Amino acid sequence: MTNNTRTVGPFPGPARGLVSVPGDKSLSHRALIFAAMAEGESHLEGLGPGEDIESTRQVLQALGVDITNDVVSSPGIGGWTAPLDDLDCGNSGTTLRLLAGALAGRPFTSTMVGDHSLSRRPMRRLVGPLEILGARVSTSPGGTAPVTVVGGGLRGADVSIAMASAQLRTAFTLAALQGDRPSRVDSAPGFRDHTERFLGPLGLGEMETATRFRVEPGAIPPFRYHVPGDPSSAAFLLAAAAITPGSDLTVQRIALSPGRVGFLDVLEAMGATVDRSITGDEMGEPVGDVRVRHAPLTGCRIQGKLAAAALDELPLLAVVAAFASGVTGVADAAELRAKESDRIASTVAMIRSLGGTAEEAAAGFTITGTGGLSQGRVETDHDHRIAMSAAVAATAAGPVEIGDPDVAAVSWPTFYADLESLWSS
Ligand code: S3P
Repeated sequence: MTNNTRTVGPFPGPARGLVSVPGDKSLSHRALIFAAMAEGESHLEGLGPGEDIESTRQVLQALGVDITNDVVSSPGIGGWTAPLDDLDCGNSGTTLRLLAGALAGRPFTSTMVGDHSLSRRPMRRLVGPLEILGARVSTSPGGTAPVTVVGGGLRGADVSIAMASAQLRTAFTLAALQGDRPSRVDSAPGFRDHTERFLGPLGLGEMETATRFRVEPGAIPPFRYHVPGDPSSAAFLLAAAAITPGSDLTVQRIALSPGRVGFLDVLEAMGATVDRSITGDEMGEPVGDVRVRHAPLTGCRIQGKLAAAALDELPLLAVVAAFASGVTGVADAAELRAKESDRIASTVAMIRSLGGTAEEAAAGFTITGTGGLSQGRVETDHDHRIAMSAAVAATAAGPVEIGDPDVAAVSWPTFYADLESLWSS
């Protein structure tokens, strides 16, 4: 239990208006890494402001890439220099896993470390896909960070990954770009396919089936990119609208590829009115506006591909489900236990702390909606998505005390003020 506490809500009345959210976290990591792999100057606009993105920026700088404001000047991945120290990935699993892939092609040794939460997350899963390409990868005896990669001299290979993990697919792909012949990666469906969408139009790969990507070795050219808003951040505001009668909220210019919007599919299945309009495209990523209007909500089942495409939003959907009538069952989501916290345990604890009914399962949880939650205190377990989900519950049920609230800065440093501004404008 922490002494650092923030009290949020309740906020009277509906959430209404037209708002923007910070740049997408997954796309910001990729934009920085792809730009650092490219030889020359890339111009990025709207990078996510969170601490995780700062971790990627610092690791790339430690490899000899110049990043000044939003301009990345790189000698190309061939000119990356061997790190003098361990590479500190902070709280960011995406930084560690994606860069392990890129570094697998470099003819030097790199060791990646992270904070307490990242140091308990599973990393052994990187070993098979990167070693089949010819790198050597080791983890702690428990299969966690530090992760050491001895890279260089990669070949091509085909792998099939059991889980729908975009991080593993991308790690493999960034290594395979440096191989001596084409490679293929396949996995379960429901993953976010940002990497595939970005590389395809550059001639560096192609989707051969709905899940199998062929990687063509080659160099990423420098580029200009305007990072779309983060649908996983927008989800918090849209969920607040979905649970508050009379709400009508639009979030503009967010990433809308199917692997990111499972959350919207679930809101629709629960009965909220959801309108999406695609307004553009950013390097293969559909971008557009999403409007959510409150309507009476009923529980639903979230499993398979839908659970994968809504994975980061499942703690938040547990809050929405508590405001619905009936039962919401989440299955096929064992991977939640390997996130910034054990998100099955931390989600169930959050709902119970606020007077709701929640049961744990091995690979998911069940929420029995009682039409709302009540005030209480939530411990975040150092997990940004738990902190922000608790704040959303607070908008309608508060006041809610949030322990360790500043952890929200991992993805959205101004989150609380931005949420509260929905009611003050
Ligand atoms: C991410 C992929 C997902 C997601 C994470 C970001 C990415 O993880 O949960 O927040 O940017 O590739 P997995 O690949 O482990 O499913």
